[in-house]
Order: sequence, then structure tokens, then C-alpha cells
Amino acid sequence: DKGQHRHFMAKEIHEQPTVLARALGAWTSSDRNRITSDAEHIDWSAVSRLSIVACGTAYLAGHVAKIWLEQIARLPVELEIASEFRYREPPLPRDGVTMVISQSGETADTLAALRYAKAQGQQTLGLVNVTTSTIAREADVVLPIHAGPEIGVASTKAFTAQLMCIALLAFMIARKRGVIGPDAETTAIDVLSTIPRILSEVLAQENDFAALAAQISDATSVLFLGRGMMYPLALEGALKLKEITYIHAEGYAAGEIKHGPIALVDEHTPIIALAPSGPLLEKSLSNLREVIARNGRVAIIGDAAACQVFGNEAWHCLAIPHVDPLVAPFAYAVAIQFLAYHTALCRGTDVDQPRNLAKSVTVE
Ligand code: M6R
Repeated sequence: DKGQHRHFMAKEIHEQPTVLARALGAWTSSDRNRITSDAEHIDWSAVSRLSIVACGTAYLAGHVAKIWLEQIARLPVELEIASEFRYREPPLPRDGVTMVISQSGETADTLAALRYAKAQGQQTLGLVNVTTSTIAREADVVLPIHAGPEIGVASTKAFTAQLMCIALLAFMIARKRGVIGPDAETTAIDVLSTIPRILSEVLAQENDFAALAAQISDATSVLFLGRGMMYPLALEGALKLKEITYIHAEGYAAGEIKHGPIALVDEHTPIIALAPSGPLLEKSLSNLREVIARNGRVAIIGDAAACQVFGNEAWHCLAIPHVDPLVAPFAYAVAIQFLAYHTALCRGTDVDQPRNLAKSVTVE
């Protein structure tokens, strides 16, 4: 049931505050002081490396996971696309753990990667939405994301629910590895508890995204740029746009653009820069100036500070609330979802069932 929405994708975008509050509730103690998860039973201080394997949007959640787990828990992470991992047959350390991420829990390559890791003697975690799925049955430890059924082919609420559970996992592992104390864990839960409210604020800006979408809907190619945490979000922005609008799109680490992609820059190619304020903003802005100097049409999605710096230099500036760095991936996820959704509406494409795509890819 789509409720009052035109598409399942719209419903699922708007559901995110509720979904994320539910996931946070399910992963924390009733007094909200402690992260609780079945992954606690692993001796994380003895784990030398975590391998994360997934496909598509779940892989991009894995990219965020790599950044958080390395920064927050100081745990080395190897990240790989399932279809490459399974045939590359990498050696896996005896004291390693493999986590597969899958909304459906049925993706053929991800399942094969899980089976490979198990056969190599790894402990395995399955971060899944569908808890009755094959991956949920076969993983040693099942980590449910509590997103509820996701019908739209383009993954939205499952992505942010994966991020919520991954953030909590990172702080839980950090505690188990002695990297943080109990206060830091409680503070993290407090920060993550603000996400539903902040997402409601971004959701209320839907018309701003629709206006930007109208301006990119005639493009034949769109570039998404981001640094640090915004790099996987830029990749996800490009994936979402390709998937439902059929516009060619690429995501790049902003610092990489001068190593090739800047040759694509002209006045016809919109460039969406994800630029929240933070330690990397100055670096991002200098990358963007290089693009603007070559007549690039740069649209900044940032907070008021970023938009103020860029003000009249950029082609378009869309300010969303200033947020804690831990919250930024969630807020910018909604931004890129809206951009793809409204661009699809302008182009009249089939939002919920894009051509050539299936919700769950059970063939190799
Ligand atoms: O069910 P899974 O999470 O394993 O699916 C993985 C990908 O097929 C999926 O995320 C796909 O990329 C989405 N359609 C992206 O929106």
C-alpha cells in the first residue's frame, strides 16, 4: 500500500525517520545507554580484519562501513563487490570476520561470497532486511536492519537503515576493542537519536529538491562529487539517478576529478557537489573552483556555511541543515534520493520498476 504517495519509492523515502528510530530502538538497551547486538558475542579484540562484501547500494553502505569501522573502531576493513570477491577467492585471515550486506538476503553473488567465507573458516555476519532469507539462514550471526518491506527497486530506506546499524556496530566494536569508553557510546547513541528529527527537516525541503531536479532533467550526463564520507554518497547519488532516470551519471571523489574526469566538464554537464561543512570543506571547495573555472555547472548541496562560501560562484546552492558528521550520510542520502526521484518524475520514467532491473538479483 502506497498510502498517500504516488510511488513506493516516495513512501519509502518518507518512512525513513520512523524506520531509523525503530532500528535504533532495536539495537540499543531500553535505557538507551548501550548498544546491543548479537555481534557482541564475537571477540572483536582478537579480530585482525573484517571483510565486507555486497552488491549495488548495499556495497555502498559497505563503503560507509569501512570508513566508520576504521575511524571509530580502528578495525582494518577490506571491502569488495561480491561478484569480484567470489571469483578472486582471496585468502582470508584465520582470525578474520566476513560481513555480507544485503537488503533481500537473496542476491546470488553475495550469497556465494558468504559461502566462500564460511568455507574459509571465517565467522560470518549477515546484515539483512529480510530475516527469512537464505543469507539470514546461512550467516553465523544475523543482524536485522528493521527497515520493513522495501518494494521500490531503488533502495532507499534499506540503505539508511543499513547505515544506522553499521554506525551502531562501529561503536559497539570500538567498545569491545577498548577504543572508546561507555560515555562515548552513550554520546553516540544520543547523536544518532537526532537523526529521525533531522531527516524530517530534510524531507520538508522536498520542493527545493524538485526545483533542482527540474534543472538537471534534460541533461545527458551528471557528475556527483564528494570527499571522505560524501564520496560513497556521491557514488550512491549517481547509482540512484542512473537507475530510475536513465541519465548517465558518475560519482567521483572530488580530489580525483583533476586526474581525468575534469575533461568532461562543460556547460551542459551538471555537477552535483555534496559539501557539508567540516574539515574537508575547504579541500572540496578548491576542487569545485577548478570545475567552475572551466564553465562547469556546479550545484552545491551543503549546509548554510558551505552555501555562504560559494554563494554566487555556483550555478545552484541548496542548503540543508548543518549536522554532526555522524549524521551527515543520512541527511545527504535523503538529498540524493529526492534528486533522483524528482528527476524521474520530470522525465516520466517508471520510478518503482525501472527497465531492465529486478528488486532482487538471484542470478549471477
Ligand atoms: O538485496 P541486495 O541488497 O543484496 O541488493 C543489492 C543490489 O542489487 C541493490 O542494492 C541494487 O543496487 C539497488 N537496486 C540499488 O538501488
